Amino acid sequence: MRLLVTGGAGFIGANFVHQTVRERPDHQVRVLDALTYAGNRASLDPVADAVDFVHGSIADAELVDRLVADADVVVNFAAESHNDNSLDEPEPFLQTNLVGTYRLLEAVRRHGVRLHHVSTDEVFGDLELDDQARFTEDTPYRPSSPYSSTKAGADLLVRAWVRSFHIAATISNCSNNYGPYQHVEKFIPRQVTNVLNGVKPKVYGTGANVRDWIHVDDHNRALHAVLDRGTLGHTYLIGADGEADNLTVVRAILRALGKPDDWFDFVSDRPGHDLRYAIDASKLRGELDWKPQYADLDSGLAATVQWYADNRAWWEPAKQATEDGYTRLGR
Ligand code: NAD
Ligand code: DAU
Repeated sequence: MRLLVTGGAGFIGANFVHQTVRERPDHQVRVLDALTYAGNRASLDPVADAVDFVHGSIADAELVDRLVADADVVVNFAAESHNDNSLDEPEPFLQTNLVGTYRLLEAVRRHGVRLHHVSTDEVFGDLELDDQARFTEDTPYRPSSPYSSTKAGADLLVRAWVRSFHIAATISNCSNNYGPYQHVEKFIPRQVTNVLNGVKPKVYGTGANVRDWIHVDDHNRALHAVLDRGTLGHTYLIGADGEADNLTVVRAILRALGKPDDWFDFVSDRPGHDLRYAIDASKLRGELDWKPQYADLDSGLAATVQWYADNRAWWEPAKQATEDGYTRLGR
């Protein structure tokens, strides 16, 4: 199996490559990554001997055509992925998330190659805090931010290429991931590395917003289940029943690092901040016989906190620039 992993130097993609090299020795893995601020070659160091790395963009039609022609399956993780950045400077989101996905679609169509497109639950917009509802595969798209609207657009392109051109594709929409190798701009690593630097965590608004946390390894096992047993043309929602509000998460981080419960600051809110995400993963659990190995956020958080404590050399080079950007945004 020749696997082309786009965005494989990012958080989820790098963990996917690690898992694949560890558990699927028959797979030949090639990574295509543009190494934006979010991509990091060092994330692939532990598997460097087993992976062919190509530096380039999914929006480069000629390069994508050549690499897709040489693959059996493409898994597309490549994206601009951070909401705060999309509110500040949307253009790269349109280029990578929309134009890049379009280039991949045209290439897999030309060469008859299977595509799995990795997407997010944010395409569905948000849920009320005091509601029991959860997202399902039938929930209408209602994205809120430039990031989530470009991800929604990309999903719709994939669906259109399946229907109109019969490409062999699947889509997954996952909830918030945590684990090693996540960029320090994201909520959990930002707060963990702040505390490790002696700085108080920063909580947007009131901290009541809810996210549905899943360990990145559980997400990636679900992706392998879709690749192995998923029905072509179908969408699968991925989530591990990990709902928690941001205050609960920040207090869990403070506990893990031996700080008092109230050792954090409230900062100004993100514009258009989605209230709550929650995934109903019944289809994935039932049809594909997947279940998470991490029962809840607490079971994976301690190891994640320890990973950041042990791997300062990985995150320190990005920390100052990230915090300078947040200072400029007042967050
Ligand atoms: P990330 O920002 O950590 O990594 C993105 C990677 O894509 C980086 O290595 C970057 O260099 C690369 N990239 C960006 N533009 C590119 C381009 N034009 N061509 C090639 N490579 C490019 O993101 P992540 O958190 O690992 O997310 C991966 C995917 O999973 C994204 O599609 C995201 O929408 C989706 N997703 C993320 C989460 C989450 O919680 N992080 C949850 C659900 C879905
Ligand atoms: O739901 C899946 C999505 O999860 C993915 O599609 C995105 O790529 C990923 O970035 C993530 O989006 P969020 O916007 O939910 O993640 P983020 O880590 O930026 O923020 C999580 C929550 O924490 C959110 O409610 C905003 C809040 N937050 C974030 C930061 C960075 C804070 O309170 N303080 C912070 O410093």
